[in-house]
Amino acid sequence: MKTIGIGLVGSGFMGRCHANAYSSVAGIFDVPLKPVLKMLADANLEMAEAAAQSLQFENFTSDWQKLVDHPEVELVDITAPNHLHAPIALAAIAKGKPVYCEKPLACTLAEAKAMRDAATSAGVATLVGYNYLQNPMIQTAREIVQSGEIGELLSFRGVHAEDFMADAQAPYTTRLDAGQGGGALYDIGSHIISLARFLVGPISEVMGMQRTVYPERPEAAKHSKISGSKRMKTVKVDDQTHFLARFENGCCGTLEANWLAWGRKMNLAFELNGSKGTLVFTQEHFNELRLYQANQQPGRDGFKILEAGPNHGTYAKFCPAPGHQLGFNELKIIEVFQILHALGASGKSWPDFHEAYEIQKILVAVNNSAKESRWCSLDEIDSPSP
Ligand SMILES: NC(=O)c1ccc[n+]([C@@H]2O[C@H](COP(=O)([O-])OP(=O)(O)OC[C@H]3O[C@@H](n4cnc5c(N)ncnc54)[C@H](O)[C@@H]3O)[C@@H](O)[C@H]2O)c1
Repeated sequence: MKTIGIGLVGSGFMGRCHANAYSSVAGIFDVPLKPVLKMLADANLEMAEAAAQSLQFENFTSDWQKLVDHPEVELVDITAPNHLHAPIALAAIAKGKPVYCEKPLACTLAEAKAMRDAATSAGVATLVGYNYLQNPMIQTAREIVQSGEIGELLSFRGVHAEDFMADAQAPYTTRLDAGQGGGALYDIGSHIISLARFLVGPISEVMGMQRTVYPERPEAAKHSKISGSKRMKTVKVDDQTHFLARFENGCCGTLEANWLAWGRKMNLAFELNGSKGTLVFTQEHFNELRLYQANQQPGRDGFKILEAGPNHGTYAKFCPAPGHQLGFNELKIIEVFQILHALGASGKSWPDFHEAYEIQKILVAVNNSAKESRWCSLDEIDSPSP
Protein backbone atom coordinates (compact mmCIF):
# COMPACT_ATOMS: atom_id res chain seq x y z
CA MET A 1 0.00 0.00 0.00
CA LYS A 2 1.17 3.54 -0.73
CA THR A 3 2.24 5.50 2.32
CA ILE A 4 2.17 9.16 3.33
CA GLY A 5 4.67 10.80 5.68
CA ILE A 6 3.03 12.75 8.49
CA GLY A 7 4.58 15.80 10.15
CA LEU A 8 2.77 16.77 13.35
CA VAL A 9 3.30 20.16 15.00
CA GLY A 10 2.32 20.17 18.69
CA SER A 11 1.86 17.27 21.07
CA GLY A 12 -0.66 18.61 23.57
CA PHE A 13 -4.33 17.67 23.83
CA MET A 14 -4.98 17.73 20.09
CA GLY A 15 -1.52 16.56 19.01
CA ARG A 16 -1.95 13.32 20.92
CA CYS A 17 -5.47 12.81 19.50
CA HIS A 18 -4.23 13.32 15.95
CA ALA A 19 -1.24 11.02 16.44
CA ASN A 20 -3.42 8.25 17.87
CA ALA A 21 -5.90 8.69 15.02
CA TYR A 22 -3.13 8.12 12.43
CA SER A 23 -2.09 5.00 14.31
CA SER A 24 -5.63 3.57 14.28
CA VAL A 25 -7.15 4.72 11.01
CA ALA A 26 -5.87 1.95 8.72
CA GLY A 27 -7.39 -0.74 10.95
CA ILE A 28 -10.84 0.86 10.72
CA PHE A 29 -11.20 2.47 7.30
CA ASP A 30 -10.04 1.31 3.88
CA VAL A 31 -7.44 4.02 3.52
CA PRO A 32 -5.86 4.74 0.15
CA LEU A 33 -2.63 5.82 1.91
CA LYS A 34 -1.12 4.40 5.06
CA PRO A 35 0.15 7.14 7.39
CA VAL A 36 3.76 6.90 8.55
CA LEU A 37 4.60 9.07 11.57
CA LYS A 38 7.72 10.80 10.23
CA MET A 39 8.37 13.83 12.38
CA LEU A 40 6.99 15.63 15.40
CA ALA A 41 7.75 19.23 16.29
CA ASP A 42 7.14 20.84 19.65
CA ALA A 43 8.16 24.06 21.33
CA ASN A 44 11.37 22.67 22.78
CA LEU A 45 13.56 19.69 22.05
CA GLU A 46 12.85 17.88 25.33
CA MET A 47 9.10 17.99 24.78
CA ALA A 48 9.46 17.00 21.15
CA GLU A 49 11.71 14.06 21.98
CA ALA A 50 9.46 12.76 24.77
CA ALA A 51 6.34 13.06 22.62
CA ALA A 52 8.00 11.54 19.55
CA GLN A 53 9.02 8.58 21.66
CA SER A 54 5.62 7.95 23.26
CA LEU A 55 3.66 8.60 20.06
CA GLN A 56 6.15 6.63 17.95
CA PHE A 57 7.35 9.26 15.48
CA GLU A 58 10.62 8.54 13.65
CA ASN A 59 12.13 12.02 14.12
CA PHE A 60 11.62 15.13 16.23
CA THR A 61 12.55 18.79 16.18
CA SER A 62 11.86 22.01 18.05
CA ASP A 63 11.75 23.94 14.78
CA TRP A 64 8.51 23.55 12.85
CA GLN A 65 10.14 24.97 9.70
CA LYS A 66 12.49 21.93 9.65
CA LEU A 67 9.42 19.69 9.80
CA VAL A 68 7.78 21.54 6.93
CA ASP A 69 11.00 21.31 4.88
CA HIS A 70 11.63 17.62 5.61
CA PRO A 71 11.37 15.81 2.25
CA GLU A 72 9.60 12.80 3.76
CA VAL A 73 6.89 14.91 5.43
CA GLU A 74 4.09 14.88 2.89
CA LEU A 75 1.18 16.08 5.06
CA VAL A 76 1.63 18.89 7.59
CA ASP A 77 -0.67 18.58 10.60
CA ILE A 78 -0.95 21.66 12.83
CA THR A 79 -2.06 21.27 16.45
CA ALA A 80 -0.03 24.19 17.81
CA PRO A 81 -1.77 27.24 19.34
CA ASN A 82 -3.89 29.39 17.03
CA HIS A 83 -1.31 32.12 16.29
CA LEU A 84 0.97 29.50 14.70
CA HIS A 85 -1.64 28.12 12.31
CA ALA A 86 -1.10 30.73 9.58
CA PRO A 87 2.72 30.81 9.43
CA ILE A 88 3.02 27.01 9.49
CA ALA A 89 0.20 26.42 6.99
CA LEU A 90 1.53 29.06 4.59
CA ALA A 91 5.03 27.58 4.76
CA ALA A 92 3.66 24.10 4.07
CA ILE A 93 1.47 25.26 1.19
CA ALA A 94 4.44 27.14 -0.31
CA LYS A 95 6.13 23.73 -0.50
CA GLY A 96 3.03 22.26 -2.18
CA LYS A 97 2.16 20.18 0.91
CA PRO A 98 -1.43 19.55 2.04
CA VAL A 99 -2.41 20.80 5.49
CA TYR A 100 -4.63 19.44 8.25
CA CYS A 101 -5.05 22.26 10.75
CA GLU A 102 -6.85 22.63 14.05
CA LYS A 103 -9.62 25.20 14.47
CA PRO A 104 -10.14 28.11 14.43
CA LEU A 105 -8.36 28.58 11.13
CA ALA A 106 -6.39 31.65 12.23
CA CYS A 107 -6.26 34.63 14.59
CA THR A 108 -7.23 37.25 12.02
CA LEU A 109 -9.36 37.40 8.89
CA ALA A 110 -6.34 38.50 6.83
CA GLU A 111 -4.41 35.39 7.89
CA ALA A 112 -7.40 33.14 7.24
CA LYS A 113 -7.86 34.65 3.80
CA ALA A 114 -4.17 34.26 2.95
CA MET A 115 -4.39 30.59 3.98
CA ARG A 116 -7.51 29.96 1.93
CA ASP A 117 -6.14 31.72 -1.13
CA ALA A 118 -2.71 30.08 -0.92
CA ALA A 119 -4.33 26.64 -0.69
CA THR A 120 -6.53 27.39 -3.69
CA SER A 121 -3.63 28.68 -5.81
CA ALA A 122 -1.42 25.72 -4.89
CA GLY A 123 -4.27 23.25 -5.37
CA VAL A 124 -3.47 21.43 -2.13
CA ALA A 125 -6.06 19.61 -0.04
CA THR A 126 -6.85 21.12 3.36
CA LEU A 127 -8.90 20.05 6.35
CA VAL A 128 -9.78 21.94 9.53
CA GLY A 129 -10.49 20.27 12.89
CA TYR A 130 -14.18 21.06 13.24
CA ASN A 131 -14.45 17.44 14.29
CA TYR A 132 -18.00 17.53 15.65
CA LEU A 133 -19.23 17.75 12.06
CA GLN A 134 -17.80 14.26 11.53
CA ASN A 135 -20.19 12.74 14.09
CA PRO A 136 -22.46 10.25 12.27
CA MET A 137 -25.43 11.63 14.25
CA ILE A 138 -24.69 15.16 13.02
CA GLN A 139 -24.47 13.80 9.49
CA THR A 140 -27.85 12.14 10.17
CA ALA A 141 -29.24 15.46 11.43
CA ARG A 142 -28.20 17.05 8.15
CA GLU A 143 -29.84 14.26 6.15
CA ILE A 144 -33.07 14.82 8.11
CA VAL A 145 -32.93 18.57 7.47
CA GLN A 146 -32.15 18.19 3.78
CA SER A 147 -34.85 15.58 3.19
CA GLY A 148 -37.44 18.08 4.46
CA GLU A 149 -38.50 15.82 7.35
CA ILE A 150 -38.70 18.76 9.76
CA GLY A 151 -39.95 21.14 7.07
CA GLU A 152 -38.90 24.73 6.60
CA LEU A 153 -36.18 25.76 9.07
CA LEU A 154 -37.51 28.40 11.45
CA SER A 155 -35.34 28.67 14.53
CA PHE A 156 -31.85 27.56 15.63
CA ARG A 157 -30.80 27.80 19.29
CA GLY A 158 -27.14 26.87 19.59
CA VAL A 159 -24.69 26.91 22.46
CA HIS A 160 -21.19 25.82 23.26
CA ALA A 161 -20.84 25.97 27.02
CA GLU A 162 -18.07 24.48 29.15
CA ASP A 163 -16.71 25.28 32.61
CA PHE A 164 -12.95 25.07 32.16
CA MET A 165 -12.52 28.81 32.82
CA ALA A 166 -15.37 29.17 35.34
CA ASP A 167 -12.99 29.37 38.31
CA ALA A 168 -11.86 33.00 38.56
CA GLN A 169 -8.45 31.64 39.61
CA ALA A 170 -8.06 29.50 36.46
CA PRO A 171 -4.68 30.65 35.15
CA TYR A 172 -3.89 32.64 32.04
CA THR A 173 -3.22 30.59 28.87
CA THR A 174 -2.92 31.34 25.16
CA ARG A 175 -6.70 30.88 25.00
CA LEU A 176 -6.98 34.22 26.88
CA ASP A 177 -4.62 36.11 24.62
CA ALA A 178 -6.32 38.22 21.98
CA GLY A 179 -3.18 38.27 19.81
CA GLN A 180 -3.11 34.48 19.85
CA GLY A 181 -6.70 34.08 18.72
CA GLY A 182 -8.14 33.68 22.20
CA GLY A 183 -11.59 34.18 23.69
CA ALA A 184 -14.61 31.97 24.19
CA LEU A 185 -16.06 32.92 20.81
CA TYR A 186 -12.96 31.89 18.84
CA ASP A 187 -12.11 28.89 21.00
CA ILE A 188 -15.47 27.18 21.40
CA GLY A 189 -18.00 29.46 19.67
CA SER A 190 -16.38 28.53 16.36
CA HIS A 191 -17.65 24.97 16.85
CA ILE A 192 -21.32 25.90 17.28
CA ILE A 193 -21.01 28.25 14.29
CA SER A 194 -19.65 25.36 12.23
CA LEU A 195 -22.69 23.29 13.23
CA ALA A 196 -25.10 26.13 12.49
CA ARG A 197 -23.70 26.53 8.98
CA PHE A 198 -23.65 22.77 8.41
CA LEU A 199 -27.28 22.29 9.37
CA VAL A 200 -28.99 25.55 8.52
CA GLY A 201 -26.73 27.24 5.95
CA PRO A 202 -24.98 30.59 5.54
CA ILE A 203 -25.58 33.39 8.06
CA SER A 204 -26.31 36.81 6.58
CA GLU A 205 -26.11 39.08 9.64
CA VAL A 206 -25.38 39.00 13.36
CA MET A 207 -25.94 41.09 16.46
CA GLY A 208 -23.53 40.28 19.28
CA MET A 209 -23.02 40.94 22.98
CA GLN A 210 -19.81 40.04 24.80
CA ARG A 211 -18.50 40.18 28.32
CA THR A 212 -15.13 39.68 29.95
CA VAL A 213 -16.29 38.60 33.38
CA TYR A 214 -12.79 38.15 34.85
CA PRO A 215 -10.56 40.95 33.50
CA GLU A 216 -7.54 39.53 35.34
CA ARG A 217 -6.30 35.97 35.76
CA PRO A 218 -3.32 34.58 37.70
CA GLU A 219 -0.25 34.35 35.48
CA ALA A 220 0.26 30.71 36.52
CA ALA A 221 -1.60 28.04 38.46
CA LYS A 222 -1.73 28.28 42.28
CA HIS A 223 0.43 25.22 42.77
CA SER A 224 2.98 26.42 40.20
CA LYS A 225 6.59 26.75 41.37
CA ILE A 226 7.23 29.51 38.83
CA SER A 227 8.26 32.60 40.72
CA GLY A 228 5.79 35.38 40.42
CA SER A 229 2.89 32.95 40.06
CA LYS A 230 0.75 35.26 42.19
CA ARG A 231 1.05 37.99 39.59
CA MET A 232 -2.13 38.77 37.70
CA LYS A 233 -2.41 39.25 33.94
CA THR A 234 -4.95 41.42 32.17
CA VAL A 235 -7.54 39.59 30.06
CA LYS A 236 -9.10 41.38 27.11
CA VAL A 237 -10.99 38.56 25.40
CA ASP A 238 -14.60 37.49 25.93
CA ASP A 239 -15.53 34.93 28.60
CA GLN A 240 -18.99 34.78 27.13
CA THR A 241 -20.53 35.83 23.83
CA HIS A 242 -24.18 35.78 22.88
CA PHE A 243 -25.44 36.68 19.44
CA LEU A 244 -28.51 36.78 17.26
CA ALA A 245 -28.12 35.42 13.76
CA ARG A 246 -30.22 35.77 10.65
CA PHE A 247 -29.63 32.98 8.15
CA GLU A 248 -29.85 33.52 4.39
CA ASN A 249 -32.82 31.12 4.21
CA GLY A 250 -34.82 33.21 6.70
CA CYS A 251 -34.21 30.99 9.74
CA CYS A 252 -33.54 33.00 12.92
CA GLY A 253 -31.00 31.97 15.50
CA THR A 254 -29.47 32.64 18.88
CA LEU A 255 -25.97 31.37 19.59
CA GLU A 256 -23.82 31.40 22.71
CA ALA A 257 -20.19 30.69 23.50
CA ASN A 258 -19.48 30.45 27.22
CA TRP A 259 -16.55 28.95 29.11
CA LEU A 260 -17.85 30.02 32.54
CA ALA A 261 -20.81 27.62 32.63
CA TRP A 262 -20.25 25.66 35.85
CA GLY A 263 -21.25 22.04 35.46
CA ARG A 264 -21.15 22.10 31.70
CA LYS A 265 -18.33 19.90 30.45
CA MET A 266 -19.11 19.73 26.76
CA ASN A 267 -22.48 21.29 26.12
CA LEU A 268 -22.10 21.84 22.40
CA ALA A 269 -25.81 21.72 21.76
CA PHE A 270 -28.59 22.89 19.53
CA GLU A 271 -32.32 22.83 19.05
CA LEU A 272 -33.51 23.28 15.50
CA ASN A 273 -37.21 23.93 14.98
CA GLY A 274 -38.77 23.46 11.57
CA SER A 275 -42.34 23.83 10.34
CA LYS A 276 -42.84 20.04 10.64
CA GLY A 277 -40.61 19.03 13.53
CA THR A 278 -37.64 19.61 15.79
CA LEU A 279 -34.14 18.21 16.21
CA VAL A 280 -32.30 18.35 19.54
CA PHE A 281 -28.67 17.41 20.19
CA THR A 282 -25.96 17.79 22.79
CA GLN A 283 -22.38 16.62 22.50
CA GLU A 284 -22.67 15.49 26.15
CA HIS A 285 -24.76 12.59 24.78
CA PHE A 286 -23.47 12.63 21.26
CA ASN A 287 -24.61 9.16 20.26
CA GLU A 288 -28.19 10.39 20.46
CA LEU A 289 -30.29 12.66 18.29
CA ARG A 290 -33.78 13.65 19.39
CA LEU A 291 -36.41 14.06 16.73
CA TYR A 292 -39.95 15.37 17.17
CA GLN A 293 -42.31 15.06 14.23
CA ALA A 294 -45.52 17.10 14.07
CA ASN A 295 -48.98 15.55 13.74
CA GLN A 296 -48.47 12.67 16.14
CA GLN A 297 -51.38 11.18 18.03
CA PRO A 298 -52.38 13.63 20.79
CA GLY A 299 -51.44 12.23 24.17
CA ARG A 300 -48.88 9.93 22.58
CA ASP A 301 -46.72 12.60 20.99
CA GLY A 302 -43.15 13.24 22.02
CA PHE A 303 -39.52 13.15 20.96
CA LYS A 304 -38.01 9.93 19.76
CA ILE A 305 -34.37 9.19 20.40
CA LEU A 306 -32.32 8.03 17.46
CA GLU A 307 -29.53 5.94 18.99
CA ALA A 308 -26.27 5.79 17.00
CA GLY A 309 -25.80 2.50 15.17
CA PRO A 310 -24.47 0.94 11.98
CA ASN A 311 -27.24 2.58 9.93
CA HIS A 312 -25.67 5.93 10.70
CA GLY A 313 -22.79 6.57 8.28
CA THR A 314 -19.29 5.83 9.54
CA TYR A 315 -20.51 4.30 12.85
CA ALA A 316 -20.51 0.89 11.15
CA LYS A 317 -16.77 1.14 10.56
CA PHE A 318 -16.20 1.07 14.29
CA CYS A 319 -18.87 -1.32 15.49
CA PRO A 320 -21.45 -3.64 13.91
CA ALA A 321 -23.85 -3.33 16.87
CA PRO A 322 -26.05 -0.31 17.64
CA GLY A 323 -25.96 1.55 20.94
CA HIS A 324 -22.36 0.70 21.76
CA GLN A 325 -21.38 4.35 21.32
CA LEU A 326 -18.55 6.24 19.68
CA GLY A 327 -16.22 8.56 21.60
CA PHE A 328 -14.38 11.80 20.87
CA ASN A 329 -11.24 10.05 19.62
CA GLU A 330 -13.31 8.23 17.01
CA LEU A 331 -14.35 11.59 15.56
CA LYS A 332 -10.66 12.36 15.08
CA ILE A 333 -10.14 9.02 13.33
CA ILE A 334 -12.99 9.88 10.94
CA GLU A 335 -11.38 13.28 10.39
CA VAL A 336 -7.99 11.71 9.61
CA PHE A 337 -9.72 9.34 7.20
CA GLN A 338 -11.24 12.38 5.43
CA ILE A 339 -7.86 13.91 4.68
CA LEU A 340 -6.25 10.59 3.67
CA HIS A 341 -9.18 9.84 1.38
CA ALA A 342 -8.88 13.29 -0.18
CA LEU A 343 -5.17 12.82 -0.80
CA GLY A 344 -5.37 9.28 -2.09
CA ALA A 345 -8.69 9.18 -3.90
CA SER A 346 -11.35 11.89 -3.90
CA GLY A 347 -9.21 15.03 -3.98
CA LYS A 348 -11.75 16.71 -1.70
CA SER A 349 -11.82 17.03 2.07
CA TRP A 350 -14.28 18.94 4.18
CA PRO A 351 -14.48 21.23 6.12
CA ASP A 352 -11.58 22.76 4.22
CA PHE A 353 -9.91 26.19 4.41
CA HIS A 354 -12.78 27.69 2.37
CA GLU A 355 -15.38 26.62 4.91
CA ALA A 356 -13.13 27.60 7.84
CA TYR A 357 -12.70 31.05 6.27
CA GLU A 358 -16.50 31.47 6.16
CA ILE A 359 -16.62 30.57 9.87
CA GLN A 360 -13.81 33.07 10.55
CA LYS A 361 -15.88 35.81 8.88
CA ILE A 362 -18.70 35.15 11.34
CA LEU A 363 -16.28 35.37 14.31
CA VAL A 364 -15.13 38.77 13.04
CA ALA A 365 -18.69 39.96 12.37
CA VAL A 366 -19.82 39.02 15.89
CA ASN A 367 -16.82 40.78 17.47
CA ASN A 368 -17.42 43.91 15.36
CA SER A 369 -21.13 43.88 16.10
CA ALA A 370 -20.58 43.54 19.86
CA LYS A 371 -17.94 46.28 19.90
CA GLU A 372 -20.14 48.69 17.96
CA SER A 373 -23.52 47.58 19.39
CA ARG A 374 -25.13 47.12 15.99
CA TRP A 375 -26.20 44.48 13.50
CA CYS A 376 -23.27 43.49 11.29
CA SER A 377 -23.87 42.08 7.82
CA LEU A 378 -21.55 39.33 6.61
CA ASP A 379 -21.25 41.29 3.34
CA GLU A 380 -19.27 43.91 5.28
CA ILE A 381 -16.75 41.29 6.29
CA ASP A 382 -16.25 39.64 2.95
CA SER A 383 -13.14 40.78 1.16
CA PRO A 384 -12.69 39.69 -2.45
CA SER A 385 -9.73 37.54 -3.41
CA PRO A 386 -6.87 39.44 -5.07
N1 LIG B 1 -11.05 20.30 17.55
C1 LIG B 1 -11.18 20.34 18.84
O1 LIG B 1 -12.12 19.81 19.41
C2 LIG B 1 -10.11 21.04 19.64
C3 LIG B 1 -10.01 20.85 21.03
C4 LIG B 1 -8.97 21.49 21.70
C5 LIG B 1 -8.09 22.31 21.02
N2 LIG B 1 -8.25 22.50 19.68
C6 LIG B 1 -7.32 23.36 18.92
O2 LIG B 1 -6.07 22.68 18.83
C7 LIG B 1 -4.98 23.59 18.93
C8 LIG B 1 -4.10 23.17 20.08
O3 LIG B 1 -4.86 23.13 21.26
P1 LIG B 1 -4.50 22.10 22.43
O4 LIG B 1 -5.65 22.11 23.37
O5 LIG B 1 -4.00 20.83 21.89
O6 LIG B 1 -3.30 22.91 23.10
P2 LIG B 1 -2.12 22.34 23.98
O7 LIG B 1 -1.58 23.51 24.73
O8 LIG B 1 -2.55 21.13 24.73
O9 LIG B 1 -1.06 21.88 22.89
C9 LIG B 1 -0.39 22.79 22.06
C10 LIG B 1 0.96 22.17 21.69
O10 LIG B 1 1.63 23.05 20.79
C11 LIG B 1 2.98 23.13 21.23
N3 LIG B 1 3.64 24.33 20.72
C12 LIG B 1 3.59 25.60 21.20
N4 LIG B 1 4.40 26.39 20.48
C13 LIG B 1 4.97 25.62 19.54
C14 LIG B 1 5.93 25.87 18.50
N5 LIG B 1 6.44 27.07 18.30
N6 LIG B 1 6.30 24.83 17.71
C15 LIG B 1 5.79 23.61 17.89
N7 LIG B 1 4.89 23.31 18.87
C16 LIG B 1 4.49 24.32 19.68
C17 LIG B 1 2.86 23.09 22.75
O11 LIG B 1 4.11 22.84 23.39
C18 LIG B 1 1.86 21.97 22.91
O12 LIG B 1 2.45 20.69 22.82
C19 LIG B 1 -5.61 24.97 19.07
O13 LIG B 1 -5.68 25.56 17.81
C20 LIG B 1 -7.02 24.69 19.60
O14 LIG B 1 -7.95 25.67 19.24
C21 LIG B 1 -9.23 21.87 18.99
